[in-house]
Amino acid sequence: MTPHVHIRLTVNDEAIDVAFAPYKTLLEVLREDLNLCGTKHGCELGECGACAVILDDQPVLSCLVLGVECSERRVTTVEGLATDGRLHPLQQTFADLGAAQCGYCTPGFLVMAKALLDEHPHPTRDQIREALSGNLCRCTGYQQIFEAVEAAIVQPVTRPARATASTASARPVKARS
Ligand code: FES
Ligand code: FES
Repeated sequence: MTPHVHIRLTVNDEAIDVAFAPYKTLLEVLREDLNLCGTKHGCELGECGACAVILDDQPVLSCLVLGVECSERRVTTVEGLATDGRLHPLQQTFADLGAAQCGYCTPGFLVMAKALLDEHPHPTRDQIREALSGNLCRCTGYQQIFEAVEAAIVQPVTRPARATASTASARPVKARS
């Protein structure tokens, strides 16, 4: 039997110790040793994007990363997107706009889109298209996915203009009786 390697890493903000066969990919470690099966197992060749996770703030294809390379690193999987029991805005807009149909590709798209929005909070359609160009979907035709990412873009908060002397004086004055 192949001796196991033992590493410590942070997955979805939780420090975890895990032991596994040294040839395993991060994808296999997540699914088989940590029971985090949201990350999907597609081509295992780096061509479908289903296995995307965020490794130290960078999106990666977990089928192309060895588990042993992740010692003392931070991994975010699709399970880590929701906070305090609330869906991430991307999860909500994907659900609302029909961007998830069979759902097999969805975790990979969500993770790649989150990485994009973390880096570029207001991406253009072309930037969204490019960021997701490595993810394959057999169901949606992609349009709903792009629209869902756009719908999740946080709009800048616009504060109501404060009354100035000139605007205040423009208010109608109540006539005295
Ligand atoms: S399973 Fe990793 S890119 Fe397809
Ligand atoms: S929703 Fe089915 S493959 Fe994308």
